[in-house]
This record gives sequence, C-alpha cells and structure tokens, in this order.
Amino acid sequence: MKKEIVLTGDRPTGKLHIGHYVGSLKNRVLMQNEGKYEMFIFMADMQALTDHAKDPKLIRTSVTDVALDYLACGIDPTKSTIFIQSQIPELSDLTMYYMNLVTLARLERNPTVKTEIKQKDFGMSIPVGFLNYPISQASDITAFKAKYVPVGEDQLPMLEQAREIVHSFNRTYNTDVLVEPEAILPPKEAGRLPGIDGNAKMSKSLDNAIYLADDYATLKKKVMSMYTDPEHIRIEDPGHVEGNMVFHYLDVFGKDKVKIQEMKDHYMAGGLGDVKVKKYLLEVLEEELGPIRERRIEFAKDIGEVHRMLKVGSEKARAVAAQTLDECKTAMGINYFKN
Ligand code: TRP
Repeated sequence: MKKEIVLTGDRPTGKLHIGHYVGSLKNRVLMQNEGKYEMFIFMADMQALTDHAKDPKLIRTSVTDVALDYLACGIDPTKSTIFIQSQIPELSDLTMYYMNLVTLARLERNPTVKTEIKQKDFGMSIPVGFLNYPISQASDITAFKAKYVPVGEDQLPMLEQAREIVHSFNRTYNTDVLVEPEAILPPKEAGRLPGIDGNAKMSKSLDNAIYLADDYATLKKKVMSMYTDPEHIRIEDPGHVEGNMVFHYLDVFGKDKVKIQEMKDHYMAGGLGDVKVKKYLLEVLEEELGPIRERRIEFAKDIGEVHRMLKVGSEKARAVAAQTLDECKTAMGINYFKN
C-alpha cells in the first residue's frame, strides 16, 4: 500500500526550544515511527530569508542547529527525508506559476501575515518576498503532493491558501496533478508552551526559552528563575498553581500525575516552597531532555556527516519536486521540449 505523504518544516532562525519540542517535534517523531507515512521534514531557509535578507549567516548557522535538533529528538534520516528548501529550485518555479493565480488583496488578507507585519515593524516597507511567502509555502506542500501537514494553529491560513491554489491550478489547467493538503494540529494538551517568564509565548526574541541544546547548568539556572506565584512569598503562604509556570510545565512534562496533584494541593494549602517544586521540575525535565542533549552532542561531533545527510535528503526531495513540476508544466502545456 502506498503511504500517505506528510510534509512539515521550520524556519531556521535559531535553535529549537522545548516549545517546538512539545508542540511539534515530539509528534513528528511519533508519526515517523508509526511507519504509516512517507515523511518530508525541511528547513524553510528561503522563507526565513523573507524577513532576514540581510542576515543569511544566521540562517546558515541555524540550518545546522535545526538539523542537530531534529536528529537529537529522534527524527531519523533513514525513515524520513530531511532537506533544505533552498536546495530545491523547483519550488521557486512552482511559486512563479502559482503567483499568477493569487491576488494581491488575497495575500494582504492573510491573518498570520498581517500579525507578523505588525510585529516586525515593516511599516510601508514590506518585502514582496515576505508578502508572497504563503504562495511559496503552497509550493513546499504541493511539490511533494503532501496530504497531511502537521503545523501549529497559526499556520492554518497557510493551509487554506495552499488549498485555494490547488483548486485554482487544477481547475484552470483542467488537471488533477495537485493534491489538496490538510493540517494536522498538535494534541490540545500540548497547546502552546509559555515562556519561563510567564509570557504566553516561548521565543528567542523574548529571551524566555529553554533550548534543546542547553547544557544542564543552563537548564538548572532557567528552571530556578521560572515565574511562579508572586504572592507566594513565605513557604507557609498558600500559593496559586494557575498561571504558575513551574506547575504548568509539570502538567506538560510530568508523568507522575498523582505526585503532581499532591504537590499542587500542598502548594495551594501552604507549606510547600518554590525551590522544592522547581527541583522536582528540573528532575522531570532532565529525564526527558538529558538524552536529547547527549544525542545532540554526539551528532555535533561530525557536522560533515550531518551535512552529507542533508545533501542526500535534499537530492531525494528534489527528484520528487522535479517530477511534480514536470507534471504541472505538462498540464499547462508549456513543456515545450517534451511531447
Ligand atoms: N511557515 C512555517 C513556520 O513559520 C514553516 C514552513 C514553511 C512550513 N513551509 C512549510 C511548515 C510547509 C509546513 C509546511 O514555522
């Protein structure tokens, strides 16, 4: 039986943090190991350049970092195809053809792009490439004929745009080459992991993230500085567990739910200090992150090998994208030198 195709990726603009891990990496590894899917996982470096054109060095370094993060988490290049977007020029070809099927007004309406434009302070100077990235993302997805795209909630507008392009292309050129993709959202309980400072979002720019690459001392320092309950001053004081990051993280990462409930009850009644809870969280996190860190260190010993793996993955991905592009050009009647 032919396996269902799954495609997903990340913008490489830094190392991946534990928010990425619970929100997507963990799920990708599970899907990969189920063996039911043909998985393509990639670094969207061209997309990253749409708002980092002046900083290609950061993107380049991040491609290696993200590859190490993937490998450390258990994404396995013998099971999944890991590749780099910029090494597949066919994706840009597809984008050129898709651009003719989308209006400027439609791009400007994209809620995720709108939010990003506000955050990034582009003002009147929005790069064309940035506004266009939903179309480029549709190329990423459709080039591999992906049926499923595991993404966060914020990516739903991109999937909507990709489906519109699929419809429009197939209708316009009277074909069925392109496959309509569907988003797979992370499990509800994974949600979005807040930052260690209590901010709703864990991110590099907010400087509130725990990275998969953090060493034990850094992890410890970050856990010990986590936002708890500002009103819980003395140990005897009753504390709040809602909005308390230490308990929030215990809910996400802890396996011993009975013990966690007991600690919550004790904390709320008073008599349980923050340091004790933080020490337990550190233990829980280290149990999960320690082995990932060790694997990351191992893979980092041979970066040449990591790059070879990316080259092999990119070549394999390129062959698939080239086949789709060929079919698209045939459907459009512009495969001039083929009959
Ligand atoms: N837009 C995604 C992000 O910001 C990255 C991405 C680019 C992507 N192309 C994709 C994700 C295709 C899934 C499928 O994280």
